Amino acid sequence: MVLPHGLTSESLERSRGTYADAVGLPPEVYHDPEFHRFEIEAVFGDQWLCVGRQEQIPAAGDYLSVTRAGEPLIVVRRPDDSIGVMSAVCQHRAMCITASVERTDDDMLDPPDLQSGSTRQFRCPYHYWVYDLDGQLIGAPEMDRTTGFAMADVQLPGLAVELWQGFIFTNFAPDPAPLAPRLAKLDATLANYDVASLVTVDPMTIPDVPFNWKIMIENFMEMYHNSRLHNGIHDFAPSSGASYTDYEPGTVAMFGFNETIEPDGGFNPTFKALFPPLPGTTMAERQRVVFALVAPTLLMGFQSDSAFWFYVDPTGPTTHALSMAYLFPPSTVELPDFGATLEAAIAGVSNFNRQDMPTNVATQMGMRSRFAPRGSYSWQEGVLAQFNSWLIDRYQAAAAE
Ligand code: FES
Ligand SMILES: [Fe+2]
Repeated sequence: MVLPHGLTSESLERSRGTYADAVGLPPEVYHDPEFHRFEIEAVFGDQWLCVGRQEQIPAAGDYLSVTRAGEPLIVVRRPDDSIGVMSAVCQHRAMCITASVERTDDDMLDPPDLQSGSTRQFRCPYHYWVYDLDGQLIGAPEMDRTTGFAMADVQLPGLAVELWQGFIFTNFAPDPAPLAPRLAKLDATLANYDVASLVTVDPMTIPDVPFNWKIMIENFMEMYHNSRLHNGIHDFAPSSGASYTDYEPGTVAMFGFNETIEPDGGFNPTFKALFPPLPGTTMAERQRVVFALVAPTLLMGFQSDSAFWFYVDPTGPTTHALSMAYLFPPSTVELPDFGATLEAAIAGVSNFNRQDMPTNVATQMGMRSRFAPRGSYSWQEGVLAQFNSWLIDRYQAAAAE
């Protein structure tokens, strides 16, 4: 592959380094269709992509439907308790086997509604080919007169799987290098949080978010805007309390800390955590929020009483699907007033989203402008230069192939 348009390796290099010397990426990487096609191969072709959490599919036959970089996938708990990831594309004539065909006159031409749930087997709605939980074809009506056809030869394509801290990752490369060694430093930082035992609550996906996926990552990770865009509602965790760990090339975790004014702060109008502190965390950990990116697209935040995770899935040059969920310890989920308190917590977070989302939409508009900058960064945005460095490595490697 070659770098699209007038982009050069030298031009990209200006965005590598630290906040002190790096500038923003060239604006076209946020909107150009040709660059988007390049990027999907360069960044999503061989990296580990999160597809959910293990506790979302606790029993054999439980499955999730997700789309990653345009590919419909099934994440399934198999009878031997292992987790598999496989393509949802029927190997007969390519219908997505998890798509619902129960549509109305109004939504029958909308993008497919991919189902999640529990099953003993997957039956394609089109011609009733049936696959077992391993993806093996086990039923195919009226195929007995077809020359050379054997069900044993047909499987849903399977993908690599790795579990990390309860998160399920997959990879489009056939034999990818393992993920966990590249997350060791983040593992050490999260040692007291018992992330693997946290429980996903209230997962939801917004399918058509109208800005480039990297704009979402940047907005989540940088703390420069906390005391400005969120002036007033973010005062418990001011931008002056921001710090980022150093990025080590070859790793995939970029993360930092936002110190809070007092222990047990919270993203709601009381500025206080609404749930008990996470068991096992220290007082110092209760007085900061950890913001972490597992590149390219898993975002996590860890606060005093809970955590949250976002998944950012590009769907086009200027669009992505955004998935969001909370993480709580089981002891918190079992509290009698958990549901009502959760509603209050969600209402608090909405106040931030109502400022962040229009800002991201307006940033996308600016990135298309002939006057779009390659601007300088504050020390409170150090992670942006780190993410640029990681991306540029991917872009340059793909261009060199
Ligand atoms: S496309 Fe799936 S059975 Fe025909
Ligand atoms: Fe924000």
